[in-house]
Amino acid sequence: MKDIILKKFAEVFGDAEGARAYFAPGRVNLIGEHTDYNGGHVFPCALTIGTYGVARKRTDNKLRFFSMNFERLGVIESSLEELVPSQGAGWTNYPKGVMWAFGEKGMKIPCGMDLLLNGNIPNGSGLSSSASVEVLTGHILRDFFGFDVSNQDLALIGQYAENHFNKVNCGIMDQFAIAMGKADHAVFLDTADLSYEYAPIALKGAKIVIACSNKKRGLGDSKYNERRGECEMALAELQKVVDIDSLGDLDEETFEKNKSAIRDQVRVRRAKHAVYENQRTIRAVKALKANDVEQFGQLMNASHVSLRDDYEVTGVELDTLVEEAWKIDGVIGSRMTGAGFGGCTVSIVKDEAIDIFIEKVGRAYKEKIGYAADFYVVEIGDGPRNL
Ligand code: GLA
Repeated sequence: MKDIILKKFAEVFGDAEGARAYFAPGRVNLIGEHTDYNGGHVFPCALTIGTYGVARKRTDNKLRFFSMNFERLGVIESSLEELVPSQGAGWTNYPKGVMWAFGEKGMKIPCGMDLLLNGNIPNGSGLSSSASVEVLTGHILRDFFGFDVSNQDLALIGQYAENHFNKVNCGIMDQFAIAMGKADHAVFLDTADLSYEYAPIALKGAKIVIACSNKKRGLGDSKYNERRGECEMALAELQKVVDIDSLGDLDEETFEKNKSAIRDQVRVRRAKHAVYENQRTIRAVKALKANDVEQFGQLMNASHVSLRDDYEVTGVELDTLVEEAWKIDGVIGSRMTGAGFGGCTVSIVKDEAIDIFIEKVGRAYKEKIGYAADFYVVEIGDGPRNL
């Protein structure tokens, strides 16, 4: 891949003298969905697929961007004086947002650059291609200009850019999973205080399979913010009767005892999901540590049911992929992953069942939904790096 992107860089920008090549992964969340903005736990891992980039410093303030995923857009020009979000700027809002965020944190970018990207994460799949671009950009800026920032800082800066530049009110999970990625491990992160530990994912005789629904996102972002709002409101209602900072502070029992403080049944279900999902995530990691992959899989299944019935972020596409997966022998667990409303499912599938899984789930999905899903057998990889 390094040769391909360097060659393309030379083709697009004249030559590749002084250009450097980089990579940042995508991520998949194994369990702990819609808990990261509720002070709960998440359990994602970085993938070996992600975003490749080539960058070179310039002697002026110009920024020139080119993506091999959007070749027809050609070279998009901007400058360090124009670090403001604009609809027409498309994908370049992600690297620009990170450059802007470095400035906001007191790290001024001293000169412009040429940047070429080539991602092999399916676009809009919910495997965090945007967070991957953000962390990649942060890593490049650190490498170029020697800024004293840790990988955890890169995650926080990426989230800051996403929240304040791109105006998506996401939590910290995606950027953290990507910046802190470690091969063959998932990150068990407590989003209340960012304490974390790595847990080895040694799935003997099984693999992680991602099924991409290919459903266009549409209303996804506004619904995401709506769910956040509902949780915030439920928290405020609960805080009148229990002393908590976030929904992640509650166990199931305390929630059940106090849920009548929430004055609306929809909000009760939203808060219930946040509380139960957090507890499920803690339990799932315990199960994994005890080598009980079966229980881990059952908690994944329960997570999906809760996201479907209480949090209502699945939809017929994701439900079909998961419910068809559950029917197959050798599927240890299956659930939607990421924000929902489209995007992907994640399943743990025994090696001998993978072909059948792809064939059967793929066929049933196409019959019911009318277009095909895509399947990826993935591996867990490291965080951002120079190539
Ligand atoms: C998106 C957000 C994350 C997280 C998930 C849901 O991926 O970017 O912060 O909230 O949705 O778990």
